[in-house]
Amino acid sequence: MAHKPRSIWRCQNCGAMSPRWVGRCSECGEFATIVEEAEEVSDEQKKSARKGGRVVALTDATSGNPQRAQTGINEFDRVLGGGLVKGSLTLLSGYPGVGKSTLLLQMAGKIAHAGKSVLYACGEESVEQVGLRAHRLGLKDEPIGLLAEVDVDTIIATALSRRPDILIVDSIQTAFTAELSGAPGSVGQVRACASALMRLAKEHDITTILVGHVTKDGSIAGPRVLEHMVDTVLNFEGDKDNLYRIVRAGKNRFGSTSEIGIFEMTGEGLLPVQSPSQAFIERHDEPISGSVYFASCEGTRPLIVEVQALVTKSYLPVPRRLANGIDTVRLLQVIAVLERRAGVSFANMDVIVSIAGGVRVSEPAVDLALALALISAQVDKALEIDAVAFGEISLTGKIRRATLAASREKEAQGIGFSTIYSTGRIDSVSDCVKLFK
Ligand code: TYD
Ligand code: MG
Repeated sequence: MAHKPRSIWRCQNCGAMSPRWVGRCSECGEFATIVEEAEEVSDEQKKSARKGGRVVALTDATSGNPQRAQTGINEFDRVLGGGLVKGSLTLLSGYPGVGKSTLLLQMAGKIAHAGKSVLYACGEESVEQVGLRAHRLGLKDEPIGLLAEVDVDTIIATALSRRPDILIVDSIQTAFTAELSGAPGSVGQVRACASALMRLAKEHDITTILVGHVTKDGSIAGPRVLEHMVDTVLNFEGDKDNLYRIVRAGKNRFGSTSEIGIFEMTGEGLLPVQSPSQAFIERHDEPISGSVYFASCEGTRPLIVEVQALVTKSYLPVPRRLANGIDTVRLLQVIAVLERRAGVSFANMDVIVSIAGGVRVSEPAVDLALALALISAQVDKALEIDAVAFGEISLTGKIRRATLAASREKEAQGIGFSTIYSTGRIDSVSDCVKLFK
């Protein structure tokens, strides 16, 4: 019996499905992003579904540690949890121009240099463009296989015949499959291509890396629609105005998501940053109010960053609270605790905080440094020039001890910070206020 194709409506921004056309996506709230797609259920899929699946006992399924291949770029391996797992599917996402192609080409060079085979499907650029970049990166002699192809079925066929150790698809937004009629970059195409590549990775044990552009434009599918499909999502953070780039795992089926890799964009491509703490801070010659150094710890790596706060008279009926590099909710919470538990008022004041150097801080241990910066800005008095702080502030106003305190202290002392404000010295928000008396 002929299979009657059914239609589904899918949001091109977030991938949410809807049983009928609607003007506004109920999931992400975007307007005019719902597009009709054909629901693909092949006859073969139906046949195999009727046969039932093979059940494996859990005891037989665990084979210990996954087999990992080092990429030769330590900062990248660190984020992955020790290297690329064989047969895994990884998504490297980031804004256009952040350096995804550069990093992957450098990685491909290292892997090829180590005698493994790499297939680099460059749908975004011509072979000549990639060649030029490789030349600039000093990789022109590495045996990387380049394939200027956007048809995912051709990419897969090539991968199956060449059997590379690593397959790179740059980017998933330019890939398309002839099975669907949508334009490359639409949610339907991106998902179909990614799932075809996922089958390739899993069934044929070919380690695959996809590049995904983060876009704000609703007409192009962003990496968010792929996150649940892939094993690992690596986010490439940083902007063009800043030389430093951070790779952070947003999801990792084979390791933790707390480690970060820090790179610097140079004329010779992305280089690992030797001494990240020194890279992200600018030491002042004299104490400045509103500036407090924070000894952070991303994963197991301590990193000193500078928290800056500015408190000014507000001309608005509702004063502004702006946060850059830090979650606004954290800022609001710390302000609330300071107002309620330590009597520091920010009423009729605009508050702006920022983490210097374009880093993002997500740890709760930033609270203490944030609170000190806010009070310092409010009373216009500076802390000691060699002071760092760390500790989480609870809603009761007490300071909680941060994890890995010893390695934070060691890192801070290593680069000349000798006054350390943490639990023991500062136990509540009222102690913070006393520092500025
Ligand atoms: P690219 O890897 O093309 O970004 P993406 O693939 O994420 O879109 O990198 C683009 C930027 O990096 C570009 O603005 C130029 C810069 N760049 C350097 O500064 N040095 C280099 O050696 C290379 C190759 C690129
Ligand atoms: Mg690119």
